[in-house]
This record gives sequence, C-alpha cells and structure tokens, in this order.
Amino acid sequence: MKIAVLKERRAGEPRVAATPDTVKKFVSAGHEVAVEADSGTLSGIRDGDFADAGAKICPDAKATLAGADLILKVRALMADEFELVTAGQAVAALMEPHGDVEQANRLAEAGIDAFAMEFVPRITRAQSMDALSSQSNLAGYRAVIEGAHLYGRAFPMMMTAAGTVAPAKVFVMGAGVAGLQAIATARRLGAVVSATDVRPASKEQVASLGAKFIAVEDEEFKAAETAGGYAKQMSPEYQAKQAELVASHIVKQDVVITTALIPGRPAPELVSEAMVRTMRPGSVIIDLAAAQGGNCKLARPDEVVDVDGVKIYGPTNLPAAIAADASALYAKNLLALSPLLVNEEGGYAPNWDDEIVQGAALTRDGKIIHPSLTGA
Ligand code: NAI
Repeated sequence: MKIAVLKERRAGEPRVAATPDTVKKFVSAGHEVAVEADSGTLSGIRDGDFADAGAKICPDAKATLAGADLILKVRALMADEFELVTAGQAVAALMEPHGDVEQANRLAEAGIDAFAMEFVPRITRAQSMDALSSQSNLAGYRAVIEGAHLYGRAFPMMMTAAGTVAPAKVFVMGAGVAGLQAIATARRLGAVVSATDVRPASKEQVASLGAKFIAVEDEEFKAAETAGGYAKQMSPEYQAKQAELVASHIVKQDVVITTALIPGRPAPELVSEAMVRTMRPGSVIIDLAAAQGGNCKLARPDEVVDVDGVKIYGPTNLPAAIAADASALYAKNLLALSPLLVNEEGGYAPNWDDEIVQGAALTRDGKIIHPSLTGA
C-alpha cells in the first residue's frame, strides 16, 4: 500500500500524522510512505528524520498524494486538498464527524473512503487506536499547566520563613479521560483537588487519584452512563440540583477545569455567570469544552476573558500546545488501525466485516455509510 502523509494546513495545527518511528514500521511492513516536506517541523521532526526512516519526501501535497492508497492526516481534508485527491483513495483523520453531513457528502462525491478516528469504537481491542483518548489525556495535562500559568499564585503549599503559601484548590468538572489526567497533574503540582461527574463509574476513579468526589448522587446519577461508557444528557431537574451543589463548591475554588462533553451534543452548561462572579479575583477557569459551546458560556474559543478578575480561557486545541507528544501518540493510533485496512498481500483492502472498520468508516465507494449520518 502507498501511504501519503500530508502537512497540516489549518492555522494553529502543528501536529503531524506520522513520526519516523511509525514510518519505519510501515516500511518494514512492506508499505511505501510519502511525506510532504515540512510536515513534521512544528512537532520537532525534520524532513531528514522521515527520510532516514524510509519515507520519500515530496515537495508539495500534489506530489505526496500521487498514487497514494491511504492518506494519513491529523484533521479533515480542506477544500484545496479535495481538489487534489482522486476517487478510490482513502483518508484517515480526526474529522469532527458528528452530524457533519456536508463533509460526508463531499467525501462521498469525491469517491474517498473516509475513516474518522473519533468513531473508532472504544472496545478493548481498539484501545491502541483510540485517538480521542490519546489526545484528551494530553489535553487534560496541558489544561492544568495553562491554569497554573494564568493563576497568580502557587499550586503547592509552601512553608517558608516569610510565611506560608496555601495550596491551590482545583476543581475538575467532568472526570473522563481529560479530567482524570487533569486531576493527576494538579495533584502532582501539589493542589488540593476535587472533581465531579455524572457517571457513577467515575467516583472510584476520582477517589483513586486522591481527589474528593462531589456530585448529586440520586437515582438519575446511578443510570447516567450509556452502554458505550459516555454520559447521558441529564434532566433539567438533575441539572438544577447539580447547579446548586456546584455553586456552593465553586465559590471556594481557585482553578476550575471543565471537560464535560456529551457526544454529538452541545456541551452542558455547568458554570453560570452568577457562579463566576462568586469566585475570588485571580481565580481561573479553563474550559476544554469551548469548541462545543463551553461548559461556561462566558468562555470564548482560544481567548482569555477577564470577568471581574476571574480569567476564563477556552482553548480549542490543547494537544497542539504539546505537539511532539500529541503527534507521536496519534501517529501510533493510525499505525495500530492500519492492519485492518490491508489484505494479506499488504494492499489497500479494508476488512469491512470488522466492527472497528465499520465503526470508523464514514464513506465507502462513493456512498455515506455511517449510521449516524445516514440516519439508519
Ligand atoms: P467525554 O469527553 O465525552 O466527556 C468527558 C466527561 O464529562 C465524561 O466523564 C462525562 O461523563 C462527563 N460529563 C458529561 N456531562 C456531564 C455533566 N453534566 N456534569 C458532569 N460531567 C459530565 O468522555 P471521555 O473522556 O471521552 O470518556 C468517557 C468514558 O469512556 C470514560 O468512562 C472513559 O473511561 C471511557 N473510556 C473507555 C475506553 C475503553 O474502554 N477503551 C477508552 C476511553 C474512554
């Protein structure tokens, strides 16, 4: 199979879909890899590193794509890239596919088989392909670093001759992959950490990381996890009880990190303007859900907003801030998926009977096939 690795063209996207390590493994599996020049620069990888690993370095996207069977990307194809692809090629990327019928139509019209990494089912066999987890984990870590940077005080308790510095109080809302890493990171920095979630399974995970679990634990909470492990949309009654609990807790917090998401829906509002105004000046909110509308409606994508001395930051691509690691893990996710897309001779031939391939595939042979987009 011929694999093409394109340079990411979106502003603010430094990641790359392959590393010298994954290129080497593709080549030793018998594949050819073409990498567009300058693809890895912003992730700390030189063209020469890719070449040493066995890749052919191509001067532009057109040359990289020539004859390729599978295109590896971090983000979805852009308009100018659609001009360059040819029917019969396949692409694997993070495509933000939820409800994006327009993108799926475009892929189908272009005759491209598209695999959305977000839709790889979260089953045990697919753990090594789980790009949502690999990137969310890094985002959770980085959220704490961003919070510590914006916070005008120290995280750990320090007892010095000049006096005692109190430890920061960090509250993590949403204890999924990003939230759990945020808890672990804040603890490592010496903060006193509490966390909330609506899924009962998260209670034990939060406690095992040494944080205090805070939640409305009623009957609805006990049934809030879907079979897929995600949160359900909670009722207005639950949300009102949750808001009351959060309001009384948040007033004492220094850094709040929100990560709450419901797949395919706008992010639930967890921190109201009234709550923000009860926080003391110098406190910080890092809203990882800003791209999905925000857990705090005052968050603005990629901006720091100051509300009465409370800084609210809504980064939409935190893995980009830690691009070398984010690229390395994402490239491994793609490498792990690749055996499901080839036949025994190593040619491009997805195993369409495999549930991972079925779960990730948006389009095939010019048709949209993913149930979330066909309504099937
Ligand atoms: P996510 O990014 O969709 O959501 C983040 C967190 O927000 C979740 O924990 C969710 O319960 C929480 N949340 C949603 N609405 C909320 C609300 N109103 N208030 C408070 N919290 C709310 O979820 P993520 O991080 O992608 O993972 C969700 C689950 O999937 C976790 O249990 C995780 O451990 C599990 N998982 C399982 C994997 C596997 O078995 N292979 C791989 C990755 C994740």
